Amino acid sequence: MHGPNDPPNDHGISRRDLLIVGAASFAIPHIAEAAAPSLARAEAAAIGVPIMSNVSFEVNGKTRDVAIDTRTTLLDALREHLHLIGTKKGCDHGQCGACTVIVGGRRINSCLTLAVMHQGETITTIEGLGTPEQMHPMQAAFVKHDGYQCGYCTPGQICSAVAVLDEVKAGIPSHVSTDLNAPPELTNAELRERMSGNICRCGAYSNIAEAITEVAGRKA
Ligand code: FES
Ligand code: FES
Repeated sequence: MHGPNDPPNDHGISRRDLLIVGAASFAIPHIAEAAAPSLARAEAAAIGVPIMSNVSFEVNGKTRDVAIDTRTTLLDALREHLHLIGTKKGCDHGQCGACTVIVGGRRINSCLTLAVMHQGETITTIEGLGTPEQMHPMQAAFVKHDGYQCGYCTPGQICSAVAVLDEVKAGIPSHVSTDLNAPPELTNAELRERMSGNICRCGAYSNIAEAITEVAGRKA
């Protein structure tokens, strides 16, 4: 029944019908899947039916194409679809930095962004920086300075550190930069501020700072 406050839409489905279908789809997903072709995309989204999309981006120098649920985070796309498990899921809420990757030269928390937002972009994960045989200078410095204990935060720390040095080189100020008209220097305060989004439960901070400082060519 469609009342005056619940008129049918173009498909002859009222809001109440949608809610009923939504509840049914929660219990019996196959029913919702069967109904999906006849529903508009917005309606399908409203009742929780996955909307798939093809996304293509360049990951670690290779073009990768994936067909994914549009709600998939970049982190899950990398780990679950491309099997690049070097990028870690810590909090999944943008608070720990374990999922840091470099997108278009800028570091981001991959748990806070949808994969479909990065169509055509260039993504670098820890696997793209170096290999055990041929490490990126930042990876080698972390090994040399013991910049980790359990290692869970380390891929994110290293991706972040690489991007931090590029930020400083590009003259991008941080919240603690005192002179916005001069290129920032990587002082201890700048380093701590810029790496503050990467949490290490093991407390390897002093060794991490030494590693980054060495790669920056600065004495600690
Ligand atoms: Fe992304 Fe913690 S997993 S910030
Ligand atoms: Fe264990 Fe950082 S090395 S969390």
